[in-house]
Amino acid sequence: MSKTLVVSYTPSFESNTKKLVDAYLQATADTTDIIHLDLVKDPAPLLLEKNLNTLLKRNFMGKELTPAESETLSDIDLLMRQFKEADRIVLAFPMYNFSVPASVKAWIDTIIQNGQTFKIKEEGGYEGLCQGKHALILMTTGGDYAKEPEKSMDFATPLIQTCMGFMGFMGFMGITSHVITAGGLNQYMDSVDEIVSRTQQQVTQYVKNSPLW
Ligand SMILES: Cc1cc2nc3c(=O)[nH]c(=O)nc-3n(C[C@H](O)[C@H](O)[C@H](O)COP(=O)(O)O)c2cc1C
Repeated sequence: MSKTLVVSYTPSFESNTKKLVDAYLQATADTTDIIHLDLVKDPAPLLLEKNLNTLLKRNFMGKELTPAESETLSDIDLLMRQFKEADRIVLAFPMYNFSVPASVKAWIDTIIQNGQTFKIKEEGGYEGLCQGKHALILMTTGGDYAKEPEKSMDFATPLIQTCMGFMGFMGFMGITSHVITAGGLNQYMDSVDEIVSRTQQQVTQYVKNSPLW
C-alpha cells in the first residue's frame, strides 16, 4: 500500500483548514497508509546557528559529523526520513500574512536538503530527487485571491509549488503540486460553511478522480 505523509498546521479552535484535512482522510480511508505530522504538537526545528552549521558541514562540505553533531541533526533527520518514505504528501495550512505560517516554512527548510531531496549537478544547476512523488496542498485564506489584483498577493501558492518543483515533484501539465483552497473565509463571513463544504467536496473529488491519488 502507498504511504501518505499528512503535514498539517491547524492551531485554531474549530479550524477550517482541519476540516479540509478531515475530508481528505475520509476520502482516502483504507486506501493508503497515513502518517500524520502535526506541526502544532511537533514543530520542526529552526535552522539556527547549531543546526544550520551542522547541516552545512554534512550536506554541502561533505564532512563526517562527530556523534554529538549527528545527535544535533537527529530530529531533522527523522523529518527527512518520514518525508522520503512517503509516496504522497498532503500539506495543510491557513494563509498567514500572504504566505505560509512560519511553522510550515520551518518544516520546508528541514526537508529541502542537498543530497537528500535535491542535488547540485556536476555540470551546474540543480536536480530534484523526489521524482514520482505527488503533493496535494490544502489551504484556507481569509481573503479571496482567485482573481487579480489579489491573486498576485498570494505568495503561499507559488512558494509551495516552487519548493515542490525544486525537489522534483510533478503533477499534471507541469504543475508541481495540486492546490485546493477554501478562499474568502473572512471576506464572505456569511458563506463560510458553504465555502468550506464546497472545498471539502473538491478535495473528495480530486482524491477519487485523480489517477495520481
Ligand atoms: C496570524 C494570521 C495572519 C493571517 N494572514 C492572512 C493573510 O495574509 N491573508 C488572508 O487572506 N488571511 C489571513 N489570515 C486569515 C486566515 O488565513 C483564515 O482565517 C484561515 O481560514 C484560518 O484558518 P483556520 O480556521 O484553519 O485557522 C490570517 C490569520 C492569522 C491568524
